[in-house]
Amino acid sequence: MSAKALVAYATKYGATAEIAEKIGEVLNSAGVPADVSPVDQVKDLSAYDAVVLGSAVYIFRWRREASRFLKAKEKQLAERAVWIFSSGPTGEGDPVDLTEGWSFPKSLQARLDRIRPRETVVFHGAIDPGKMKGLEKWMIQKVKAAVEDSRDWEAIAAWADGIASAVKAERG
Ligand SMILES: Cc1cc2nc3c(=O)[nH]c(=O)nc-3n(C[C@H](O)[C@H](O)[C@H](O)COP(=O)(O)O)c2cc1C
Repeated sequence: MSAKALVAYATKYGATAEIAEKIGEVLNSAGVPADVSPVDQVKDLSAYDAVVLGSAVYIFRWRREASRFLKAKEKQLAERAVWIFSSGPTGEGDPVDLTEGWSFPKSLQARLDRIRPRETVVFHGAIDPGKMKGLEKWMIQKVKAAVEDSRDWEAIAAWADGIASAVKAERG
């Protein structure tokens, strides 16, 4: 069996796309062929045994195209090895502490339970003040989020390494 992986992502300003690219690089260099694609460009999962799905988080929600994909592909995802990540909180400390315990959108939780991913994680994200619109700037100030690139490349690479090991172990 080929054991090909898909890394599908939803991004608004690019931070999550770069996380997905990193995961794809780690998988490929560990010997798991991986395609990296914006989630709204994914047509068919039949070529993939493993799927990594990630989205940027805005006001405790995933990007619409990622939610849509999870809903539309629930059945196919449930038949595959799936890993889920969210890209969100900025600042120091454990990402889930920074989001006050949030780890996945509530409205999608029942579907996630049926998909039964191997892991669901939250990674630190990045906020680029040059890209924010007025309302976004205001919201960021209001919640006092750190305006910085907090992405933890080591944590991302280590997580992707774990995925590669799991996929290879199952491939035999
Ligand atoms: C208006 C606004 C709301 C946000 N809301 C959340 C949130 O609820 N939870 C979270 O963890 N991060 C939140 N973030 C941070 C983004 O998720 C983070 O910057 C992410 O890495 C951006 O990814 P992208 O560049 O791929 O769009 C918010 C950012 C903005 C600008």
